[in-house]
Amino acid sequence: ARIAVLISGHGSNLQAIIDANTIGNIDVELVAVIANKANAYGLQRAAKHHIPAHTVEAKPGETRECYDARLQAVLDDCQADFIVLAGFMRILSDAFVERNLGKMVNIHPSLLPLYPGLNTHQKAIDNGDSIHGASVHFVTPKLDSGPIILQAQVPVFAEDDIESLAARVHTQEHTIYPLVVHWLSQGRLHYQGGHAVLDGQVL
Ligand code: GRF
Repeated sequence: ARIAVLISGHGSNLQAIIDANTIGNIDVELVAVIANKANAYGLQRAAKHHIPAHTVEAKPGETRECYDARLQAVLDDCQADFIVLAGFMRILSDAFVERNLGKMVNIHPSLLPLYPGLNTHQKAIDNGDSIHGASVHFVTPKLDSGPIILQAQVPVFAEDDIESLAARVHTQEHTIYPLVVHWLSQGRLHYQGGHAVLDGQVL
């Protein structure tokens, strides 16, 4: 399958997918890395691995619809079968999401439906949670609310700060995201009637 990865920053999840592909745990064609920021470090990771890297930066005053149309054009150009959001820090328009429904997944650093949106590690600590984690889900118009495909849990320790907790969650993300990409590329994972379905079973 042809995979496009969308990033805004560090790109450690992108790296995890690249590495899984390199060692043969998954077998995909990484056809594009697209960043909405020219200085996203993940663009350098893409270049290093000879993956076509694109920057699609918002222009001053540009509407969300215009931006998303330019993004769609890049995706159409590279004939991506699936869109993998990996720290892509832009809200996508409903039209864009609907057009790519069932083709687009996101990873979010919380045990959804807990803590959609930002500052998830802080929220977990503030609430005294003993368990935190990450979720991979299909993207639907409502932010961070699409059907969940796979989650990983981590413990929260009394001495944790945001950095230590985020690092623990990140490590888990790097395991679960390549696995989900693998399922997608193998045709085992589908979006059906608002549910995620793996090997014919509703998740
Ligand atoms: C991850 O924590 C992911 O859950 C969130 O953004 C972060 C991206 O990290 N959506 P990286 O750029 O992959 O290192």
